Amino acid sequence: MVNIAAVALVPRGPADAEVADLADLVDLVIAGCFEGEGPSVDGAADSVRAAALRLAGRPGWGGRDEQVAAAEILPGGPMLSLHGLGKRGEFSFLRLSRWLYRAADAARGAGRVVFVLPVHTETAGAPAAERVLRALALATYRYDRFQSEREREADWTAPLAVAPPPGEEAVFSAALPTAAAVAGAIGFARDLANTPPNEASPAWMEERARELAASRGMEVTVLDAEELARRGMAGLLAVGGGAAVPPRLVRLAWGTSGPVISLVGKGVTFDTGGISIKPAADMDEMKYDKCGACAVLGAARAVADLGLPVRLRVYTPLAENMPGGRAYRPGDILRFANGKTVEITNTDAEGRLILADALTWAVEEGTDALAELSTLTGHCVVALGHQAAGLFTPQDTLAAALLTAGAESGERLWRLPLYPEFLEAMKGTHADLRNSASRPGGASTAAAFLSQFVGDLKNWAHLDIAGVANVKTDDEGQGAGATGFGVATLVRWIRRVISQV
Ligand code: BES
Ligand code: MN
Ligand code: ZN
Repeated sequence: MVNIAAVALVPRGPADAEVADLADLVDLVIAGCFEGEGPSVDGAADSVRAAALRLAGRPGWGGRDEQVAAAEILPGGPMLSLHGLGKRGEFSFLRLSRWLYRAADAARGAGRVVFVLPVHTETAGAPAAERVLRALALATYRYDRFQSEREREADWTAPLAVAPPPGEEAVFSAALPTAAAVAGAIGFARDLANTPPNEASPAWMEERARELAASRGMEVTVLDAEELARRGMAGLLAVGGGAAVPPRLVRLAWGTSGPVISLVGKGVTFDTGGISIKPAADMDEMKYDKCGACAVLGAARAVADLGLPVRLRVYTPLAENMPGGRAYRPGDILRFANGKTVEITNTDAEGRLILADALTWAVEEGTDALAELSTLTGHCVVALGHQAAGLFTPQDTLAAALLTAGAESGERLWRLPLYPEFLEAMKGTHADLRNSASRPGGASTAAAFLSQFVGDLKNWAHLDIAGVANVKTDDEGQGAGATGFGVATLVRWIRRVISQV
């Protein structure tokens, strides 16, 4: 649907007799310069280094973040565009992504483009190589299906090329296939998540999951409303009750050997809040309430494309949370398949209810580890802003593994507590549990609620991605909209579990 750039690797300097000079290969060379330093073009062709030095010698050049200067490398020859990268000590994956995104945007129509990567810890080593190549592949991603005058994919005619820092060539070339698979999966997750709620109903999401499964040899099981009722899946039936399109639970399974890893993703295709209706401001963003489901489907796609030796199971509870004559109400009491009863105190705390059904099924089937992703609470956004996802797990080893996978993937996770006291706030008046409590610790009380639906499993984690699932503007190193947050971390975590990183 939308464009993920092909990425190719090229040498920085004269590599062999065939290629006299990098400048002969391309139409535009993009290079960087840290503040207060010379251009970071070590090992690049003489002509490129000379042009970079000329640009950096211009009056006023300082290498400040977002400063740009351009000139011909040779008279009538290719162009060099030199970008200020800010202070070396402040450079991060986010800065790097912003640079790649902006520079790629400015390079539309420029023909053959090569990025000469700066020498930095952010561009050195295998995890960094994967992050950089993935970010570059996604630098051309736009969700422009509905833009009448959209800029065409053809704006980027040739693959975007990268010249790795000196000594990193082998690491980058080994990282390229994985980075391409993960970027493709993130693009897929973003396409699903960006799709507007009038198109992306629970039925539409089921169709996309079926297509994915058919194209990747996965097994699909879909529980429709009738089957949900038979199995006592009270959460999905209640939450989806007010919508014209009925709820469903989609399960995908992939792989025949290796550990069993289960992924659960919240798939609320639109969250009005239901009878406890949300205020109008920013309600349009509630199309992103399916981002957990989109991320776990994306992760499954990458796992299949990489042929990882795991038995992966993906569960996406899909429902639209609408008010209406058949909607569930505050005061209702639901009885779940595991015997727990839940008093509804707020129909806007719907995510935990549909996740309860999916978690119950996932755990009942048996698993070695389970990760669940959901845009679960505004409280998590208050706690961590848009900078990190909240991580909740009773298992320290799992927390450490996910935190490492996140750091290596350039996705920030921050562990928040699951103290037993948070569960006390979730006790119901006339039922075992209530589905919402007062505001203090709202992200943790939500996680405590979920903990009541994982049985005896200790090796489970909940990631609250409410603050990071989408960005409002084009200034965050990607286009406005869904981020695909979680896909890269999940894939990296799974690769760690099977010792393939
Ligand atoms: N989908 C929302 C959480 C959310 C809020 C995601 C803001 C992204 C941005 C969730 O279903 C919700 O409404 N949660 C309530 C829970 C409360 C009623 C206990 C919330 O966070 O206010
Ligand atoms: Mn809600
Ligand atoms: Zn929600």
